Amino acid sequence: MSEKISVYFTEEQIAKRIAEIGAEITKRFAGEEVTLVCILKGSIFFTTELAKRIDLPMVIDFMKVSSYGSGTKTTGIVNVKQDLEFDIADKNVIIVEDIIDSGYTLSHLQKVLRLRNPKTLTICTLLDKPERRVVNDVKVDYVGFEIPDKFVVGYGLDYDQHYRNLPYVGYVEQE
Ligand code: IMP
Ligand code: MG
Repeated sequence: MSEKISVYFTEEQIAKRIAEIGAEITKRFAGEEVTLVCILKGSIFFTTELAKRIDLPMVIDFMKVSSYGSGTKTTGIVNVKQDLEFDIADKNVIIVEDIIDSGYTLSHLQKVLRLRNPKTLTICTLLDKPERRVVNDVKVDYVGFEIPDKFVVGYGLDYDQHYRNLPYVGYVEQE
């Protein structure tokens, strides 16, 4: 791994934005319980930080999907590699994703989870690259930051499984 990474969002900026989203979700679901669905592995950092900023009864569950081969290009094929542990019927489900790019992943996930009859299905993503959208049937309820069409890493996001542990979000500059 010899890429140069330049900081785009600092840990502080990310924490501040997540606190805002957490407050909005807390307000919207006041008096109810929510189920956070963390999409592995990219959204682990976002999910844990967001969970701490939502002041409601909560269940956290995990789902693993893959849409990418190695490298930075999508294949367009979405596989569920690990399913949820719990039934989500009649639950307020919040999908927590790291980034929406082509939209294939969230479009597919939304369809799969809707079939299980949740009470509500909300989509929350840390990052959004609107310029890259291929499928447009996804309504994202909460977006941390919109970014241009550049590959980013850190705060859970990887490049060939590396850089997830960076505490900030950075651009990869190919050498
Ligand atoms: P989509 O299905 O094309 O919307 O892609 C969503 C998934 O692609 C995300 O969950 C990420 O795992 C991955 N992805 C898309 N863009 C990036 C990026 O810039 N950096 C790292 N992973 C990305
Ligand atoms: Mg991902």
